[in-house]
Amino acid sequence: MTVRATWQGGGEGWSILVHGGAGFIPPERREAHAEGCRLAARAGALVLAAGGSALDAAQAAVELLEDDPRYNAGTGGSLDEHGELRLDASLMDGATLAAGAVCALPPFFHPIAVARAALRDGRHVLYAAEGAARFARLAGFEPAPPDRMITDAARARLEATRQGQDGNWAGGTVGAVARDLAGHVAAATSTGGTVGKRHGRVGDSPILGAGTYADDLAGAASGTGEGEGYLRLAACLRACLALQQGREPLDAAVETIRMLRERVNASGGIILVAPDGRLALARSTEAMSWGACWGSLDQLTGGC
Ligand code: GLY
Repeated sequence: MTVRATWQGGGEGWSILVHGGAGFIPPERREAHAEGCRLAARAGALVLAAGGSALDAAQAAVELLEDDPRYNAGTGGSLDEHGELRLDASLMDGATLAAGAVCALPPFFHPIAVARAALRDGRHVLYAAEGAARFARLAGFEPAPPDRMITDAARARLEATRQGQDGNWAGGTVGAVARDLAGHVAAATSTGGTVGKRHGRVGDSPILGAGTYADDLAGAASGTGEGEGYLRLAACLRACLALQQGREPLDAAVETIRMLRERVNASGGIILVAPDGRLALARSTEAMSWGACWGSLDQLTGGC
């Protein structure tokens, strides 16, 4: 079975769908992961309901998840082979195709905000490693003390991986897709990457087309899963192109997840928003937390 679960919702007006990562989440922790995603969707929904942009909404949702140590992004993100936090994030504005991204960023509390600063600055799209840290400082962000962002749970995951008890799993990557009242779409994704990754490894999350994509003519997508597969398939771009060719959002999500399994043997999940605001998700993993809201703040849902 390549696709284990799907969901669709949304519709006319504003909408937002958030994920807290595809992977294995112990059954007793799933409701807490879903609740964090519902809160993040609500944070984005407050922006959208007030007439804010899809880009601001996606960023607001992802920042909340970066602060939450349960997810593999920002605080609590996965550690590399040296026990260091190196963070990847990107976001894209479907209205203008403007984008910003950082990869292998040393500890900063909100990598997605640094990516947003890169988008705003406009000179370059993607900054890496020490250059990303330098850009962040120039943009006014303070580096974070590593011990404020590295959690005991992340250290334990690294130790388990070193002892061969766990795969190189990147579960817990976070992301959001949104459509605003003006009809624009946006996507944002943030991650610590795979546990015990080689120093310098960059996954799909900061790479446009692979882990994040947005185009008003097509829709927006954010991926979570085995990043090397998403990179090789340009998975989020493929999903958006399927939407542009008229596929139903749910079909586009399912087909992308199936293609990841069949073509590059990768598992994970994807969230999509179509230009008309319809939302969809599909996953091939045992679990994937998510939250969604559309049209009214009462219309808040989620699961795992
Ligand atoms: N999908 C996140 C990563 O592989 O880094």
